[in-house]
Amino acid sequence: MIKILVTGGAGFIGSHTVVELVNGGFQPVIVDNFCNSHRSVIGNLEEITKQQLIVYDVDCTDELAMRQIVTEHPDLQGAIHFAAYKAVGESVRFPHKYYHNNINSLLVLTRVMDAFGIRNLVFSSSCTVYGQPDQLPVSEETPYQLAESPYGYTKQICERILQDLVRGEGNTISSVLLRYFNPIGAHPSGLIGELPLGVPENLIPYITQTAAGLREQLTVFGTDYSTPDGTCVRDYIHVVDLAKAHVKALQWMADRPVGCESFNLGTGRGNSVLEVLHTFEEVSGEKLNYVLGDRRPGDVEQIYASSEKANQTLGWKTELHLADALKDAWNWQLKLETHTSSK
Ligand SMILES: NC(=O)c1ccc[n+]([C@@H]2O[C@H](COP(=O)([O-])OP(=O)(O)OC[C@H]3O[C@@H](n4cnc5c(N)ncnc54)[C@H](O)[C@@H]3O)[C@@H](O)[C@H]2O)c1
Repeated sequence: MIKILVTGGAGFIGSHTVVELVNGGFQPVIVDNFCNSHRSVIGNLEEITKQQLIVYDVDCTDELAMRQIVTEHPDLQGAIHFAAYKAVGESVRFPHKYYHNNINSLLVLTRVMDAFGIRNLVFSSSCTVYGQPDQLPVSEETPYQLAESPYGYTKQICERILQDLVRGEGNTISSVLLRYFNPIGAHPSGLIGELPLGVPENLIPYITQTAAGLREQLTVFGTDYSTPDGTCVRDYIHVVDLAKAHVKALQWMADRPVGCESFNLGTGRGNSVLEVLHTFEEVSGEKLNYVLGDRRPGDVEQIYASSEKANQTLGWKTELHLADALKDAWNWQLKLETHTSSK
C-alpha cells in the first residue's frame, strides 16, 4: 500500500480525501493539530473507512516533530498539504498568524520531504489566487490579480515557492497545485462534513445553521452586482468530487518527471447566492430566514472555473451537483450534534 502523509487530514477537505485515499488503496498518515477541527472526526473517519488510522497530533510548523513522523514512516511516498488557516476575513485582522502558519508549514514540509527523499506533493491552493478575473471561465493561464487578503497572498506565495523549488538546483520534489473553487457538501454518510468553529464565513454552513435555528437570520451580501439576479456568483463543488481529484493527482504524478503543474477544480458552472438559497429550500423543505444586505468588502463579483485541464490530464470530472451537495450538507448539519458530542 502506498503511504501518503496528509497534513490537515482532520479538516473539511482533508477528512473527505482520507476516505478517498483509503478507497483508492492508499494508506494515509494524518498530521493535524486540531486547531480548526474536532477530534471526533478521527473516530468518524474510522467508522467510514472501517480501519484504524495513523494519526499524529502535531503542528506542521514544528520541524523536529515532522522529522520524527517521517522517520517513523520511511516508506512514505508523497504528501498532501491541507494544513493552513483559511478564513479570509480573519486573515485581514490577523495577518501575522496567517503568514506564519500557511507559509512556514509549507517550508517545513518541503524541507523534510527533501531531506527524506519524499517526491510527490499535492498542495491545496485556491481560486482566490485569481482575484476578480477579467475573463470567465478562469483557466490555469489566467494571470494572478493582486491578492485581496493576506490569506489569498499566502496561497500565491506558496504556489510561487513550489514553482521556484522545481527550478532550483538538485530539487527532487514534484508538485501539483490544486486550485479549489468553492468546496461544499459533506460525506453522504453524514459522519464528516464542514465544521466551522465560531461564526461561519462561508455561505453553506451559514445556511444550514440558520435553517437549524442556530443563527437567527442570513444576510445576502450585495444585490446590485452585474450578475443575472444581482448576487455574487461562485462555482460550488461537492467536497467528495474534490477529494477524488487528490487521488487522481497522486496517480498522475507517480510516473511523471519532476515538475510543478496547476489544475483548477470546479464544476465549470456558476451559481448565484439566491440560486443556492432557493435550491437549499427545495432539497431541505425548510424556509430560510434571509435578508438582502449591502456588499461585503473583499467579495469578488463572480468566478467560475474551466476544469478542462483536470478533465483531460487527470481524467477527473465532477459527478455530483449543487442539489446533492446541499442535501448532504443539510444531512450533516442535522446529525452534527450527535457526532461531535458522542465521541
Ligand atoms: N474550504 C474552502 O473553501 C477552501 C477553498 C480553497 C482552498 N482551501 C484550502 O484547502 C485546505 C483545507 O481547507 P479546509 O476547508 O479543509 O480547512 P479546515 O480548516 O477544515 O482544515 C485544515 C486542517 O488543518 C489543520 N491545521 C491548520 N494548521 C495546522 C498546523 N500548523 N499543523 C497541523 N494542522 C493544522 C486544522 O486543524 C484543520 O483540521 C486549506 O489549505 C485551505 O486554505 C479551502
